[in-house]
Amino acid sequence: MFKDTLSRLFRKREEHIIPGKKSTAGMSASDFKRLPKHVAIIMDGNGRWAKRHRLAVSKGHRQGTENLREIIRHTDDLGIHSLSLYAFSTENWSRPKEEVDALMQLILDFFASEIDELDAKNVHILILGDKSRLPEKQRLTLVEAEERTSGNTGLHLNIAINYGGRDEIARAARILASEAANGRLDPSTITEKTIAEHLYTHGQPDVDLLIRTSGEMRLSNFLLFQCAYAEFIFPKVLWPDFSVKAYDEALSDFGGRQRRFGARI
Ligand code: FPP
Repeated sequence: MFKDTLSRLFRKREEHIIPGKKSTAGMSASDFKRLPKHVAIIMDGNGRWAKRHRLAVSKGHRQGTENLREIIRHTDDLGIHSLSLYAFSTENWSRPKEEVDALMQLILDFFASEIDELDAKNVHILILGDKSRLPEKQRLTLVEAEERTSGNTGLHLNIAINYGGRDEIARAARILASEAANGRLDPSTITEKTIAEHLYTHGQPDVDLLIRTSGEMRLSNFLLFQCAYAEFIFPKVLWPDFSVKAYDEALSDFGGRQRRFGARI
């Protein structure tokens, strides 16, 4: 009870410290039975949200980015280890040019407005995906964000850009094959752990909870290896409307799941 009051007071204090920023007003870590160590989110439904509001699809993505800020802040407040976000897949290049351009612009805008706060909050940013195919400006922005926050020890914020799960596994295979060809690795010693160590997310826990908004129930090539034992939650709400409250509901749902990891309990 006392702890509850304290945490509420603390949240109130934060509202004053960050003027102009909306409070997450979400639940606190002690309100949950169990929290995931690693949450992955497929932020789906921006296009449908835009259509519903008779807006251009780019506006849906922009609204989705606004929403993202609150979700990141709340994840950080809860003390969750890793948050992985699917921002741009290797397949998204085939979308209309205006939409791809809008998403590329959003990447620049997001980092321009968020990097100071994320760094101040000790957030460690990691980009999952092949940055070499991105326009130079975006590539440099991402490299700078990674370098600037590389020593941070708080929330691991993984943002998947030009990412594909199969591509990530193929990349790990290429690295291991070349180490074997150079005689630095004995192929018979390769285990699941060796592969995990050569993925973008090396050193981080497997995904415990995958959330995909908009009612679609697919993995769409996201973190294929890391999601082997993930719990899946598919809220019907479109991503721009996915509130901190809806996030807390998904986290509570996760807390009630019985996880067996293939064993009989
Ligand atoms: C899927 O919705 C969403 C995307 C392909 C992009 C998600 C990206 C953001 C929210 C911007 C994030 C930016 C940064 C820098 C983190 P959809 O367009 O497929 O929706 P639809 O299925 O309703 O058309």
